[in-house]
This record gives sequence, structure tokens and C-alpha cells, in this order.
Amino acid sequence: MADGIVIGGGGPEAKQLQFLLLSRANRHGLVAGATGTGKTVTLQTLAEQFSAAGVPVFCADIKGDLSGLACAGDPAGRLHDKLNERSIRIGVGPIEYRAAPVTFWDVWGKSGHPVRATVSDMGPQLLARLLQLNETQQGVLTIAFQYADDQGLLLVDLKDLRSLLAHVSGIASELQVQYGNIASASVGAVQRQLLLLEREGGEAFFGEPALEFSDLMRTTPDGRGYVNVLDATRLIQSPRLYSTFLMWLLAELYESLPEVGDPEKPKLIFFFDEAHLLFSDAPKALIEKIEQVVRLVRSKGVGIYFVTQNPKDLPETVLAQLGCRIQHALRAYTPQERKGVRAAAQSFRPNPRFDAETAISELATGEALVSTLDASGIPTVVERTLVRPPSSRVGPLADSERTALINGSSLFGRYDQRVDRSSAHESLNAGSGQAASSQDAQKRRSARDETGVVKSSKASVKMRGRSASSRQGPVEAASGVILRTAAREFTKYILRGMLGSRKR
Ligand SMILES: Nc1ncnc2c1ncn2[C@@H]1O[C@H](COP(=O)(O)OP(=O)(O)OP(=O)(O)O)[C@@H](O)[C@H]1O
Ligand SMILES: [Mg+2]
Repeated sequence: MADGIVIGGGGPEAKQLQFLLLSRANRHGLVAGATGTGKTVTLQTLAEQFSAAGVPVFCADIKGDLSGLACAGDPAGRLHDKLNERSIRIGVGPIEYRAAPVTFWDVWGKSGHPVRATVSDMGPQLLARLLQLNETQQGVLTIAFQYADDQGLLLVDLKDLRSLLAHVSGIASELQVQYGNIASASVGAVQRQLLLLEREGGEAFFGEPALEFSDLMRTTPDGRGYVNVLDATRLIQSPRLYSTFLMWLLAELYESLPEVGDPEKPKLIFFFDEAHLLFSDAPKALIEKIEQVVRLVRSKGVGIYFVTQNPKDLPETVLAQLGCRIQHALRAYTPQERKGVRAAAQSFRPNPRFDAETAISELATGEALVSTLDASGIPTVVERTLVRPPSSRVGPLADSERTALINGSSLFGRYDQRVDRSSAHESLNAGSGQAASSQDAQKRRSARDETGVVKSSKASVKMRGRSASSRQGPVEAASGVILRTAAREFTKYILRGMLGSRKR
């Protein structure tokens, strides 16, 4: 058997297994199809097989139905006969029900461990996108970040950003020569957008303890990769928050992971559901940066799988980078739809046995056109494929099942309590005016070496590498994470990475 995971059975009689080679899995992929055609189940079967192969996975759960990954499927369940029949038919034998190891995350901390970032982590560019700022307003935000970096001000939560903006606005004339113009109308506009973000519940996302990326890359003692399921049922109601959040995760992963070239198997697989949201209304400069991150993150061993209804929702330059293509059925009633189907069909290497364009509109639920990269990196001929049914439950977990899993997780207690330490808000409102006098800032200063280059990054990497499985009490866990956050705050604005998030 090839060193890969089974997408399903293709070709005549659906007996020809279609593999996704682990050594090619960092060449990204696409799962597309109209609503109800089987995208989520495909994602589930891929995720659990990556996990079984020792590859950690991240995915956002838009409808809640992906949570079933954490439970074994039910041999007495209503879907059993259908799933089992399919499993036998494609040649992988009777279905063996198994749960995947899952870590649940939730920005609001209800259906998973809270996931947070500091304002400083996110950086001005992604924040500007999140706040829908125009160029002038983004300029003001950038100046504020620059000023905070220069003054050693900690930007942790939205309160800090708010105080910083008020402060900067108050001393705008002093700052003008060094930083440029800070129009109070622009500051006002940014503040208003911040209010809107807070109303959407975006406040929850900013703070500490901030997410440690090593916690997304965990494996079980028996070598299975954890599947990180981010509950996105609420998050998706703020599409900008959703897409910016996932973009930030990707950018941070890119910045924090070492170069590995083409590894034997990926370090992480990242499923990006509702991927069109990433690109809709994004300014051209941001789209270019996203394309760049997608291209470069591959050599860090991260494979991104975009999940979307129609491939034409993604930019050509991104589509061209996707090695594995799984195309479920598309509707082809209107001329516009037919055009989309034609484009999707033409993206495949043709198979003389059938016409891909006709097939796309005929595919049944859980059936897809599939092409992957072979061992030499060449796309395989497109095959009509019955997707392998998952071993985990098709359908959501009950709340009680989910709660039990969250409480039993080895990460329990690490993030659950929010910690509000002294940061920009406190420094700026202490009346000192000289923000850099805060204790945190002092600590940061002393760790800078003569060249001004960050000394602490090694310490921070070392601390991040600490075994994530060791169970800690909430206080110990929280203070550990804060120490690490403090250690990485030294980064100057100019060291910021590709998307303006903090460079590590
Ligand atoms: N590979 C499969 N094997 C067996 N049944 C499947 C398979 N894929 C999908 N199904 C059936 O089809 C149903 C719908 O599939 P799914 O939820 O994956 O669609 P979707 O494309 O994600 O839809 P939406 O866009 O609405 O989220 C599943 O609940 C399941 O019953
Ligand atoms: Mg779905």
C-alpha cells in the first residue's frame, strides 16, 4: 500500500484506490462542491486519516458537524449500512469505527479551549483588514504600532489599543515630525470600528494567555496527530473576523516554523473552510501577500486545503498552487454556472474514459472528481471517485460529549482563565505619560542586546518547545504562557513578518 491516505475508490467499479501521498500532501489542495454534496464528510475522512498517519490537523467547524471526528461512528447508527457498503465496495474492507484524538477550540471559550492572540501579535495590517480601515486610517494604526514598539508598550487587548490611540492622538503634534500626520478624524474612525468589533464579540479574541502554536501540533503518545477543531459556528457570523483569524493563524505558523523543504509527511494540515471569505473584498496587496504565504508555507511542511463551493471563488494564482483536487458536484443550470463547471473541469488532467465537464454535474453525494500529485509531483489523470467513508461519527457531538472531552483534555486549564496583566492601557493611564516606565517595558529593554536585536527569541523558542502534555494547574499554566509572551514582545515593528504579524 502506498505511503498515503485513501481519498476513495475511483475508476471502473470504483475499485482503484485514489491515494493522497503523504510526501506530496504539503502541496496544498482543494475540496469544492455545491452545498450538500459531501465536502464536510470528505474533509472529515481526510482529517482522521492524516491524524492516524501522525500528522496534526487544524480545521474550522462551520456547522458543528465536524465535531463528530472525536467519536467513533456507530455500528447501530442509521448511516451504518450505507457507509459499510461503500467501504467494502471501494476495497478497504468493512468499516472499522474509531474516534480521532481531537482538541476543541473556541474564540469564546464555550465549545472549546479559548483561543486568543495579543493585539501586538496580530499587527497593524491584519487589524486594518479586520476593522475595514481605509489607507489613511491604516496609516494611523501603523504609526500607533510603531510608537508602541518604540516606547516598549505592551499591546495585549483592545483596551490597550484604545488607550494607545487616544494617547497618540493627544500628542499628535509632538509625534508629527518623527512619525507623520495623525489626523484626529482618522483616529476617531479607527476607534469607531473598534467599537463595532467589540459589539461583534471580537474583544474575546484579544488577550492572554495567547495561543501557543506548539499546542496545535501535538501528537498522542501512540503517535497520532491531534485534530484541532475550531468551533466556528458563531465566528462565521462575522466573516471578516473568521477569515482574518485564520489568516493570522497561517501567517503565524509561517513565521514560527522552520524551513523543512518537502518532508516525508507534512508537519500540519490546515483545512480552510469557506475559503472564498479570505479573498472577497480583500485589497489587491493583501491578496498578493496571502498568495505568497500559501506558496511559502509549503516548505515549512504545512499543507493548506481550501474548502469552498466553487473553485472560481479563489484567485487563479492560488488555484494554480493546489496539487490535490477533489471536486464534488456543481450545478450547471445557468450560463454562469456552466462556465464555472467548464473551468473546474479544465483544471484537471483529462481522462480519455469520460468527459469531466459532464461528470461534474452528474456526481452523486459523496462522489467526486479526484486528481492528486504522483511520486514525481505530476498530477494524476482525473478519476471519478467514491469518497471513503469516515471511521468517526458523521454528524455532530452532543454538548455533554463535547464538554467531557474538553474537561478531560491535557490542555485543560492552560488557556481557560483570562489573565489581565499590566499593559499599555495601565501604563498610559497611570499618568506617567512616559509609557516606557512600566515594569514590563523595563524587562523588555534589559533583554535587548547592544545591536538592538532581540535576544530573547531563543529563550522563547525553548519555552515554546516545552512538552505540551505536562498537565499544569491554571495559575501555573497561565503564568507560564505569559512569561513566554513577555519574552517574545521584544520584537520591533520592523521585524514584523509577511502579513505584519509578529516575526519570531
Ligand atoms: N463519503 C461519503 N460516504 C457516505 N455518505 C456521505 C459521504 N459524503 C457525504 N455523505 C452524506 O451526505 C450528507 C451531506 O454531506 P456533507 O455534510 O459533507 O455536505 P457538504 O458539502 O459539506 O454540505 P454543506 O455545503 O451544506 O456544508 C452527509 O451527512 C452524509 O449523509
Ligand atoms: Mg459542510
